[in-house]
Amino acid sequence: MTDTTAGRFTGRTIIVTGAGSGIGRATATRIANEGGRVIATDVVAERLDALRSELEGLELETVVGDVAETETIDALIAAAGERIDGLANVAGIMDAFLPPSEVDDATWDRVFSVNVTGPMRLTRAVLPHMIAAGRGAVVNVASEAALRASAAGAAYTASKHAIAGFTKSVAFFHGPQGIRANAVAPGAVATNIEAPMRSEYAASRVGPIMQVAIPPVAQPEQLAAAITWLLSDDSANVNGAVLPSDGGWSVV
Ligand SMILES: NC(=O)c1ccc[n+]([C@@H]2O[C@H](COP(=O)([O-])OP(=O)(O)OC[C@H]3O[C@@H](n4cnc5c(N)ncnc54)[C@H](O)[C@@H]3O)[C@@H](O)[C@H]2O)c1
Repeated sequence: MTDTTAGRFTGRTIIVTGAGSGIGRATATRIANEGGRVIATDVVAERLDALRSELEGLELETVVGDVAETETIDALIAAAGERIDGLANVAGIMDAFLPPSEVDDATWDRVFSVNVTGPMRLTRAVLPHMIAAGRGAVVNVASEAALRASAAGAAYTASKHAIAGFTKSVAFFHGPQGIRANAVAPGAVATNIEAPMRSEYAASRVGPIMQVAIPPVAQPEQLAAAITWLLSDDSANVNGAVLPSDGGWSVV
């Protein structure tokens, strides 16, 4: 579906979270096929095993773990080594569409741990390596829910707005040190993400909007194209952007 750019990541080491499925898997696959060394992580070991079989012969190391746990961050940095050229924070979870009046603490805390705190800690851990090298690219996967309130529940929407803000903060503070940080905001993508609707009230609010507003579902490779562009030198002049890749949903 999407072409590869031969050798675009040759000599580069890039960490990809959520690499066992969907957008993360497509991103890891594309980087490896373009010559990069991928440090791939996921909480589901079997998914990483499958990725390893699929990318046999290419440069791939895998770390099984939860991005919300500091041990996983430490293991990723150890696996990467001194040189870390890029980080794609892709792993994320949804929130059952619970509106502010119904969201429970456990959902809120877990969604923020995975979607915001884990990516912040991993970014914080790679930054000293990138700053020492005077270059590096961080790409965070946000969502349409970083742009509007009708795409998810309260916790997911707030978490994706938060990761967009964190992306801009990295770009602002560390841009002068050679670091670029950008986010991609996908619309609906055909992946394994679980998106149960557990609120009748939310269904009544979101349902009618979803029926009219959403462009066709995209494929993970289309998102990987945007993420790898932002990781590569092709986007050298882009910093702090939140790029919708949503078939135009954001302008409806
Ligand atoms: N699919 C969509 O329609 C859509 C739309 C907008 C944004 N997104 C975002 O895209 C990103 C990727 O989602 P996807 O759709 O490819 O989903 P997916 O479920 O297919 O893939 C996500 C992967 O991340 C892993 N993961 C989940 N929690 C983890 C954790 N705590 N630690 C490590 N790995 C973990 C999962 O095991 C899975 O393999 C997420 O941040 C999601 O919020 C997805």
